[in-house]
Amino acid sequence: MFIQRNIRSLTCAAALVAASSFSGWVSAEEVKIGFLVKQAEEPWFQTEWAFAEKAGKDKGFTVIKIAVPDGEKTLAAIDTLAASGAKGFVICPSDTSLGPAIMAKAKLNDLKVLAVDDRFVDAHGKPMEDVPYVGLAAFKIGQKQGAAMAAEAKKRGWDWSATYAVINTFDELDTGKKRTDGSVDALKAAGLPADHILLTAQKTLDVPGSMDSTNSALVKLPGAAKNLIVGGMNDSAVLGGVRATESAGFKAANVIGVGINGTDAIGELKKTDSGFYGSMLLSPDTSGYETASQMFTWVSTGKEPAKYTALDTVTLITRANFQQELTKIGLWK
Ligand code: GLA
Repeated sequence: MFIQRNIRSLTCAAALVAASSFSGWVSAEEVKIGFLVKQAEEPWFQTEWAFAEKAGKDKGFTVIKIAVPDGEKTLAAIDTLAASGAKGFVICPSDTSLGPAIMAKAKLNDLKVLAVDDRFVDAHGKPMEDVPYVGLAAFKIGQKQGAAMAAEAKKRGWDWSATYAVINTFDELDTGKKRTDGSVDALKAAGLPADHILLTAQKTLDVPGSMDSTNSALVKLPGAAKNLIVGGMNDSAVLGGVRATESAGFKAANVIGVGINGTDAIGELKKTDSGFYGSMLLSPDTSGYETASQMFTWVSTGKEPAKYTALDTVTLITRANFQQELTKIGLWK
């Protein structure tokens, strides 16, 4: 009797332990991943975050979003992630040369790393190809941007002899240099003379930065420059440039600015007219949803993402089609 009752209570206790450890197992399995971005104020990155959170909702994981505008904040964010039980993170670094430091810190904390947008470089400036990376086929996308600008110039009947291009560059960033190189390549291929293309370096990768760089190029233009093409590695690089042409007295009809991203040009395209003609809309849905999903799969099943996923889908959005194109990927508000 005594033994029997004891066995029964032992069985009960075992069942209880099993039940509680089962529920413990469920909550321990609720995966957390980080999503760290260099410029949280840029709509591009807000959009990536939104799509990452959508993936988390759909698949049942938590996304911890942290803005990492500099190296110090980046390393602190990795500690924060580890302390909150995250298993890995997706990151667009503020400076690609932070790559080795980010990897060392992540290793110390046993966190997996997937780079998005901007690829890590090592101490010699070489891309860290062993770190999985999702980013643009940058030269190709730059070429498409250049081709779009040239096609619009042709449509407006511009004569190349009176047309100049101001290309805002940010060569510190490989994806930036490749985009503007591609753009210049396509403009030349379309017939714009090489000496009509002015490259001007941005000190900062934002609207004020490109306004300054464009201003310093505008003063070098010859009197023959009637029409202007304005380029740069993303929407901010072109938006500032277009603002500079306005202050210098150029009319919208004489300016063709085409950005890259699409996400950061929505407000501008809502204006009836401006020198900002359009933008090459990328896939922020892929860069946010897919990268977060890949990290979730990696930490929960061990399946590592590809070392390089090149994104080359772009759609030219202009005032004529932007509502329709943005609606397709759920970005029209
Ligand atoms: C870089 C740019 C962003 C965006 C992404 C796309 O990170 O700074 O604005 O263009 O690339 O990959």
